[in-house]
Amino acid sequence: MTENHIDFEPVGRRGQCTAKQSLLECAHQLGVELVSLCGGKGTCGRCKVQVLSGKHTQLTSDEREALSPSELEQGYRLACQTYPLEDCKVHIPTESLTAPQRTQVDGLEVNIRPDPAVISYHVEMDSPSLEDHEADAERLLQALHREHHINLNPSAIDMKLLQQLSPVLRHSKWQAQVSVKGNEVVAIGPRRERSLGLAIDLGTTKIAGYLPDLSTGQVLASKGAMNPQIACGEDVISRIALAIGSIKEAGRLQKLAVTAVNQLARELCAEVGVKAQDIVEAVVVGNTAMHHLLLGLPVEQLALSPYVPAVKGALDIKARDIGLKVAPGGYVHLLPNIAGFVGADHVAMLLATKISQKKGVVLALDIGTNTEVCLSCDSNMTSVSCASGPAFEGAHIKHGMRAADGAIEHMQIVGDRVNYQTIGGTPPVGICGSGIIDVMAELYLNRVLGDNGRMGADHQRVRTRQGELEFVLVSEEENSGGVAITITQKDIRELQLAKGAIRTGIQVLLDANSRSEEEIKEVIIAGAFGSYIDVASAVTIGMLPSLPLNRFKQVGNAAGTGAKMALISKDARGEAQDIAEGVKYIELAATSQFALTFAQANYLGRYRIMRGKREVISIDGNQAIK
Ligand code: FES
Repeated sequence: MTENHIDFEPVGRRGQCTAKQSLLECAHQLGVELVSLCGGKGTCGRCKVQVLSGKHTQLTSDEREALSPSELEQGYRLACQTYPLEDCKVHIPTESLTAPQRTQVDGLEVNIRPDPAVISYHVEMDSPSLEDHEADAERLLQALHREHHINLNPSAIDMKLLQQLSPVLRHSKWQAQVSVKGNEVVAIGPRRERSLGLAIDLGTTKIAGYLPDLSTGQVLASKGAMNPQIACGEDVISRIALAIGSIKEAGRLQKLAVTAVNQLARELCAEVGVKAQDIVEAVVVGNTAMHHLLLGLPVEQLALSPYVPAVKGALDIKARDIGLKVAPGGYVHLLPNIAGFVGADHVAMLLATKISQKKGVVLALDIGTNTEVCLSCDSNMTSVSCASGPAFEGAHIKHGMRAADGAIEHMQIVGDRVNYQTIGGTPPVGICGSGIIDVMAELYLNRVLGDNGRMGADHQRVRTRQGELEFVLVSEEENSGGVAITITQKDIRELQLAKGAIRTGIQVLLDANSRSEEEIKEVIIAGAFGSYIDVASAVTIGMLPSLPLNRFKQVGNAAGTGAKMALISKDARGEAQDIAEGVKYIELAATSQFALTFAQANYLGRYRIMRGKREVISIDGNQAIK
């Protein structure tokens, strides 16, 4: 098949692709991280590129819908809908790149006594001789018994380790580190100072990794990375749909996740001068879909009512069975899931925040494409999952983007001026989630938006484009002749649904426990996105309950903290199991008040929802909290 030479600029990636590959597939093949929120179906409109030269296939109806007339005139196309017919030169605008993104790994610091499931022992042996011809495995186990009173027989040694044992012992000059989990030897290597573990929070968008010393609990390195499955779809539903559609795609999703975790493990180990094979155990937490996709479990039942997971209990599996390259006999422990859409990451978050030990009414939420919310009333926990969607990741928002350089992360309206702050202090290219919440709050406080989210036309920065009102955050002139950055009426509608879903989840939990929001003494906001939002703005738009700001606590990546805790403490694993079994799960859409509450929760402003009715708190109150 003839191949065409494709030149992607300004990233400077060039290579050969066939005419059977779309420009999106071609970009991904060449390692160019083009956004593809819908997984290449032509519906999200986010894989926009400009074809500068070269023949390509005709415009599709999806493209006519997604691209403006002026974009079409300038040669913009959707990369997933366009196939090259000859050599092409393609320009990728910044907003179409999954640019290096701000990933959050920091979270709560929890003091915990190390009591790991895997313990490493140092042993010394005499080398064999004609007088002492004991076999290598028995020699090692006798030393383990003599020096540490551990009594094991050779079948306790993992088969892979047994296959490597003789050269390892000779290479390490009969001094070794033996790592034991329960009654099994899971790693044997040269004598070392440390015993290493790997904790992973496998998020839909981001992956956070930590490398603790298991004997002290001290984290030696931590790092974040993007989940490369994003190229297959932004949210779990698109990835589940992809996996259901083809075994090959399910395999690809599994491989992408494992490859990313292996890469992260290598990078963490490189930071402290060790190898990933020195990791003796891993703990992974993630939502139920990420958990299932990583393990190669079926996901179809997750997408169909009643949304049942394939398995929910904690698992200990050989890391090599899923392609994780740690110590050859090492295990990966997966914390338990709660339900189809409330997974081990929620359990880890509850473990880290110790919500089950708190008295009174406490709310904890981890905001993301799926927002999990837990209400604890004197340790009785109830959780829901809200489909808040990827709008806060910038998807389906005209100038939305993820939290990368150039994203407007905070803004304020002063008269007819807009003051804004971008990530990295670079020129603005779009708006990320925290900026979007500020924009809504500011537009509401400046009465550009009514409480029903309707945009008024009487502000100097409101204009009409293609029959739709939009508020100009950065005009073409202010952006040095570049594109204007705006927020449209359609964007606001999309964001109302996202924030309304979260508020509905909170309200349903309060109603189910016959509690009012005034009774909530603490609101814990976990997760990367939650760390960067301005809580006052989130209260102003009615996403969070109208409570004094000192009741809110932003705790960073608590799921990652929970994963670390489970790695270094067996007790923490037991606690996680108790949490998973103790949490009562509510299926949000099945509750009787859902539709009524959701309709109210879409409104902006500060209000209470009582029995499906909204009780407004005055706008002056809003101004006071700003
Ligand atoms: Fe191309 Fe969504 S429109 S990836």
